This record gives sequence, C-alpha cells and structure tokens, in this order.
Amino acid sequence: MKLLRMIANLGYGSRRDVLQLFGEGRVTDAAGELLYADDKVEHARVRIDGEPLDPPSGLVLLMHKPLGVTCSRKDAGRLVYDLLPPRWRRREPALSTVGRLDRDTSGLLLITDDGALLHRIISPKACVSKVYEATLARDLAGDEAALFASGTLMLESETTPLAPAQLKVLAPRRARLTDTEGRYHQVRRMFAAVGNHVEALDRVAIGQLTLDGLAPGEWREIDAGTVAKVFDPPT
Ligand code: URA
Repeated sequence: MKLLRMIANLGYGSRRDVLQLFGEGRVTDAAGELLYADDKVEHARVRIDGEPLDPPSGLVLLMHKPLGVTCSRKDAGRLVYDLLPPRWRRREPALSTVGRLDRDTSGLLLITDDGALLHRIISPKACVSKVYEATLARDLAGDEAALFASGTLMLESETTPLAPAQLKVLAPRRARLTDTEGRYHQVRRMFAAVGNHVEALDRVAIGQLTLDGLAPGEWREIDAGTVAKVFDPPT
C-alpha cells in the first residue's frame, strides 16, 4: 500500500492533509530520510515528526469500560471511543466494540478493527462465555441457579428460551453469572424474570480473558495470543 493511503487510513487526516505532511517534509524513515506519498514502505519504518505511526490495522484493544459511557458511535453522551486518541475515530477500517455493554454496566470490553475476529467472537456458534458480577436489590431466593441452568427460562417478548447459564452465589445479594448468548440486556432481564433487580453490573471476563489490573477508563492493545483466551472456557 502506498504511504499516502496507509497514513490517511490511520486517521492522520484526509489525503489532502496527508499530502501536506509530505510537502512539509514531516514524513521520514527511522534514519530521518524523507519519504514520499507514492513510496511503499513497511509501517514500522515510517515516522511522522520523528514519531512512530499509530498501530497498523488488525488492532485489538482491551478496555475497562467505566460506568456512564456508551458503546455507540453517535449517542449524545460520552462514548467509549472518546477514551481513545481522537485520531483513532478516523481510522479505516473503523474500530468497533465487540458486542455491547449497557451505559450503566462496567467492565471488560473488546474493541477491534478486525471484522472477521469480531464476528468469530460474537457468533452464537462460538459459544464464547461472558462472565458478569451482579449486585442485586433483593436477596437471592435460592432457586435461581437451577432455573438459569435449565435452558427453559423465557425472557419477556422472546420466542426461544435462554441457553443454560451458570450462576454462582457470592453473597445474599451478589452473584456471578456466566452466559454464552449475549441477548439484549440479558443479565438484567434474567434477574427481572425472577423478581429481582440488578443494581450494579460488571463484566469480569470473556472466556479466560480478564482485565488483569486495568482501572476503569484504561485500555491497552493486546496481541493475538491474549485475544485467543476469549475462546477458552472460564474455570
Ligand atoms: N447484560 C446486560 O443486561 N447488560 C449488559 O451490559 C451486558 C449483559
């Protein structure tokens, strides 16, 4: 790929803006030699103002989504994309969240520009486990785990029952739920179906992938080996 397109796709500006960067001599190799718009140069060798380029496409980010931000591109409030460098909003291919967490759910969120990977993770066939910790408004009755595991629970306005999900009681009003489906507001609706109410919800893992010390609002790039952990069932 020619440098002009590579740099524009990374969000550094329109083709015109990027041509201007070349015109001003700001695009060089690591040794400071000028590069030109039509050059085909490996991503790792390119510098703009002496700085390495933003990561190439195939990017996967692990984010600790804080409360109050939305997994959407055009919601009125704060978006998860606002936590990333502003230039990344203009990347091509675009970054997308791998599924969604509600505005008032916190925890582990993946963001990627790799559409094939995204579909592999969210595909119902993949049966990827999502692990949530919920704080509830009322004490658990004791029969929820059996019902959630039964594969018969029908959510309001749905036509097929939920696949079995595992519930582990952590305290009278706290539980860990592992599901493999990811239907709309699924965890909140499951507890509503048993007469309870989720007061706080946090996703703590996808498969074997955890936040590993990331604080709310923090994110980092992860490599393919780390991403692959999402396909390993949680222990
Ligand atoms: N289930 C929910 O109800 N909300 C989420 O954000 C994720 C799962």
